Amino acid sequence: MKTRILSGIRPTGHIHLGNYLGAICSWVSMLDKIDERFFCIVDQHSLTTTEDSNDLRKNTLTIAAAYIASGIDPVENHIFVQSHVPYHTELSWYFSCITPMGWLSRMTQFKDKANKNKDQTLTGLFLYPTLMAADILIYKATHVPVGEDQKQHVELTRDIAHAFNSYVGKQVFALPEPIIKKETARIMSLRDGLKKMSKSDPSDYSRIHLLDDNDTIATKIRKAKTDPDPIPSEISGLESRPEAKNLLNLHAIFTNKTMENVLKDFEGKLFSEVKAKLTDATINHMEPIRSKMLDLLNDETSLIKYLKNGANAANNLASGHMAEVRQVLNLL
Ligand code: TRP
Repeated sequence: MKTRILSGIRPTGHIHLGNYLGAICSWVSMLDKIDERFFCIVDQHSLTTTEDSNDLRKNTLTIAAAYIASGIDPVENHIFVQSHVPYHTELSWYFSCITPMGWLSRMTQFKDKANKNKDQTLTGLFLYPTLMAADILIYKATHVPVGEDQKQHVELTRDIAHAFNSYVGKQVFALPEPIIKKETARIMSLRDGLKKMSKSDPSDYSRIHLLDDNDTIATKIRKAKTDPDPIPSEISGLESRPEAKNLLNLHAIFTNKTMENVLKDFEGKLFSEVKAKLTDATINHMEPIRSKMLDLLNDETSLIKYLKNGANAANNLASGHMAEVRQVLNLL
């Protein structure tokens, strides 16, 4: 069977190392194992939360640049913007007509983001998972690489696919498989090792942005929270030291070493040394990506052309599937 992946990131001004290492790098690592690859910039999802809906145009281009600069070739892969393919929202409407409200109220992300005053909670935020299901199923994606926090939404997508099939009495959608990334790809806040690195953290020092310059990277790592103890020799010695674990994990990723080897290098040393080495490793890795991103952003016309080509391919595939959906729904 032909394999097809679809994944996406919401455009925000704060694309950071967590998004890069957790999402984009895991996609890059599977490019040659999957027959067809669709990478969406899910701009319509950004409209569900006000903090993400500012500067949408600029942020959309930034994510596109990040995808390409990280190694997703825009000719070999389909990189496109969700709002350029109107079939997502059309399919999400059909899905909303077969999805019980109870399923959507149980989504943990909705519960976290919903307004304390229920009457003020926006319907778009509530319906977000039906749009995400449509993002995936409009392409009949076989696999969906996502972070642990999105697993529930992919499971819901499977339930919606099943409910749709039962409703129309035909196997229109196969159930897509989530690909959940490894725990090591979970990058934590530089200010609190128990919290995920997140664009919504009020402190800029909690995360490194892909467009941060070298000095900013150095300052953020220098100010990162640590503890006074020296580096242990065993991984078990990091158990109750989440900040230490996070910095050493980042070092392991950027130097392509195992955690065991990183601990061997740093055993008994202090954090000042770890931080200096981590700064070098981070800059080494990120500087070429940042510089490619800036080049791409400086040539908007070419960047937009890539996105148009991506949208053409996406529209082609989606329109065929949509014709089938309209037919099974008995729309004239
Ligand atoms: N909901 C995802 C997130 O917040 C983003 C997303 C939207 C997505 N549509 C998708 C991810 C489809 C994978 C597939 O991270």
